[in-house]
Amino acid sequence: MNKQQNPSLETRLVQAGTGRDQQTGAISLPIHPSATYRHPGVGESTGYDYTRSGNPTREALEEVLADMEGGRRGLAFASGMAALSTLFLYFSSGDHLILSEDLYGGTYRVLDQIFSRFNLTTSYVDTTNLNAIEEAITPQTKSILIETPGNPLLGIADIRAIADLCQKHDLLFVVDNTFMTPLLQRPLDLGADIVVHSATKYLGGHNDLCAGVLIAREEKIGEELYFLQNSTGPVLPPQDCWLLVRSLKTLALRLERQCHNASIVAEWLKEQPNIETVYFPGLPEHPGHQLHQKQATNFGAMVSFRVDSPARARQLLERIKLISFAESLGGVESLLTLPAVQTHADIPTADRLRLGICDSLLRMSVGCEHVDDILADLNQALAD
Ligand SMILES: Cc1ncc(COP(=O)(O)O)c(C=O)c1O
Repeated sequence: MNKQQNPSLETRLVQAGTGRDQQTGAISLPIHPSATYRHPGVGESTGYDYTRSGNPTREALEEVLADMEGGRRGLAFASGMAALSTLFLYFSSGDHLILSEDLYGGTYRVLDQIFSRFNLTTSYVDTTNLNAIEEAITPQTKSILIETPGNPLLGIADIRAIADLCQKHDLLFVVDNTFMTPLLQRPLDLGADIVVHSATKYLGGHNDLCAGVLIAREEKIGEELYFLQNSTGPVLPPQDCWLLVRSLKTLALRLERQCHNASIVAEWLKEQPNIETVYFPGLPEHPGHQLHQKQATNFGAMVSFRVDSPARARQLLERIKLISFAESLGGVESLLTLPAVQTHADIPTADRLRLGICDSLLRMSVGCEHVDDILADLNQALAD
């Protein structure tokens, strides 16, 4: 009985958008492509005036997004980079941001090559190390943005401890939760102010949608982000909003299978003679293993590993048949990425190499295929 009154997040996601169309009783969320809306009279509005400012299909999605992360306001964007760029517009010239050094290369690129022109300054630090973060704080620092697990090395940062640090120094705390999703990790509950997603990844889940998300814990910040979204216009179109709602319904099912497969893949990789290191927070020897378990309910489905030579990495990418050599992650299809030349190509070579993002490092997004088929493909592609 209690369950029905307070359904779990899994159930709320399955039911996303259902029953919204009371006129027809449609189970599936209606798509409203209208760019504009008739006004009932002068000075009157149906609540919708122009689709950049508000659209019923996007509104339905944004309510689901806010609910899933436990925030007051969700906003849907045309890509993860559109969401992040809108977030960076929140700051002013002269402000300073601290970011994880182990983070998506596109986030680095937009800050380094575009926002730097407007004098938004940055420091990239090892956010698995609290002292390193605190030492980087200056009087101009306004925010800390982390990815945990990191990307592509899957280091674990302490979300609650960084939230405390942000509170102490009055900083906006942002977590890119793309790798985890709210089903595995809920940063707003641990003290973050804003969660970012590339919804192109697990939330979309089928490698057929490009979308981004911002979720604010508090209404006031949500309103300010909405102002930026409405002013600059990088909104997610209604058809894609519908597709994202449809995709979220199966998020729990997909993740369950992907996490299961990933832990088997990580254990298997560890045993292979031509693999030097496996990076996966689910492995007991991973330095963030304990911490990750304190703040997340599963280890996710991203596994990075270092092979014994760049030639072996090339061989693997050329021989895989089932797994695709492609950028991106989180979809039902398994993908293998070479971060040094794909996702992290814009990070200066010296910084990349210092972090260990070399030509022998591969990042795998483990999909929903039968795990035996994934292992068989890796096995034939790795063999001498
Ligand atoms: C962790 C993370 N954040 C943000 C982005 C950017 O998202 P999008 O590619 O949807 O613009 C990506 C893309 O790979 C990502 O991996």
